[in-house]
Amino acid sequence: MLNQLEVTQQQALDELAQVNSREALRAWELKYLGKKGQITELVRSVGQLPKEERASFGKRANEIKQALTAAYAEREALVEEQELARDLEEGQIDVTLPGRPVNRGGLHPSTQTLRQFYDIWGDMGFQIYRSREVEDDDTNFTLLNIPPHHPARDMQDTFYTTTPNVILRTHTSPGQIRAMRDLGGNGTLPIRVILPGMVYRYEQITARSEIQFHQVEGLAIGRNITMTDLKGTMAAFARRVYGENARVRFRASYFPFTEPSMEVDVECFLCKGEGCRVCKYSGWIEIAGSGMVHPVVLQNGGYDPAEWSGFAFGMGPERMTMNKHGINDIRYFWANDLRFLEQF
Ligand code: PHE
Repeated sequence: MLNQLEVTQQQALDELAQVNSREALRAWELKYLGKKGQITELVRSVGQLPKEERASFGKRANEIKQALTAAYAEREALVEEQELARDLEEGQIDVTLPGRPVNRGGLHPSTQTLRQFYDIWGDMGFQIYRSREVEDDDTNFTLLNIPPHHPARDMQDTFYTTTPNVILRTHTSPGQIRAMRDLGGNGTLPIRVILPGMVYRYEQITARSEIQFHQVEGLAIGRNITMTDLKGTMAAFARRVYGENARVRFRASYFPFTEPSMEVDVECFLCKGEGCRVCKYSGWIEIAGSGMVHPVVLQNGGYDPAEWSGFAFGMGPERMTMNKHGINDIRYFWANDLRFLEQF
C-alpha cells in the first residue's frame, strides 16, 4: 500500500505538470485531493493495515499529501499568471469600438409640466397643498355645492368603492374644502395655494380620455378678491407658459362651486389663431376652468362670504402637454412605453 501511495504521487505530479487551465486544475484537485480523491482514499484505508505499519504509513501519507498540496499551489500560481498574460495579450483595447451607452433616467413629461407649473405659481405666491386622492362623497361633491342627485354629478363619472361614502376623487376641487379648513384658521386667514395631483374618472379609455390624469387646482381666498384678480392671474400664467404675446380670452361657463364661472382659452400657439388640427380649427385652446368661489363653498370652508371672497381654477397638465408636443393619444402617458417617454 505504501508503494501504491508512491506511485499515485508520481502519477499526480506528472499530470499536474501538464495542467494549463483553471478548469484542469480543479479537475486535478478533485481527482487526487478531493473528498473522494485517490490520495484521500488511500489515507482513509490506513485502518486496513496491520497495527505496526499504520504509524509509518500515516506519516508518509501526510508528507505526500502536503507535498501535493504545495505542488498544486505552485501550479495554480503559474496557471493564473499565464491566464493573465493571455488575457492581456488577447484583450487589447480596441479604441475604435463605440462606447457603451450610459442609460440615464428622465422625467416623465407630466412631471416636467407639473414642475413648470410649480415654478410659475410659486413665483406668484402660491404654495403647494397636497390633498388626498381617496375622498368621501361629501367633500368631493356635496360640500362643493353638488348635492346628491344634482345633475352636475353626471359630468364626472365616479369610481365608487365597496366602502360607503369612500370614492376616488373625480377632481382636485375637494382639496379646496380641505385647504380652507386646514389653513384658514376658522375663516380668519387668507390662502393662496395650488393643489396638484391625480384624479380618477370611471370612463371609457380612448385616445381623448383616460381613467386617471392630473389636475392642478388653484385657490386664493382673501378680503377683496375680485373677478379682475382672477382674470389678471390667469393671463399672467398664460404669458409665462405661452410667451409674452400670448392672447387669452374668457368664456362664461358653469361649475356648481364657482359663481360666476368662466373658462380660460389661450390663442392657439401653433396656428396663431388661424385654425388648425391642434385647436380643432377654433384658433383657441382651453387651458382652465375657473370662477369666483361660490358663497356656499366659502361657508363650508369656514369663511363668512359677507367678508371673504376668492377665486379658484382647475387645469389639466396632460391636455396642455399634448397640445404643446402634438401628442394625439392620452393613453401614451401611463403606458410606460420608453419609446414615448424618452422623447422628452
Ligand atoms: N373641478 C373642475 C373640473 O374638474 C375644474 C374647476 C376647478 C373649475 C376650479 C372651476 C374652479 O372640471
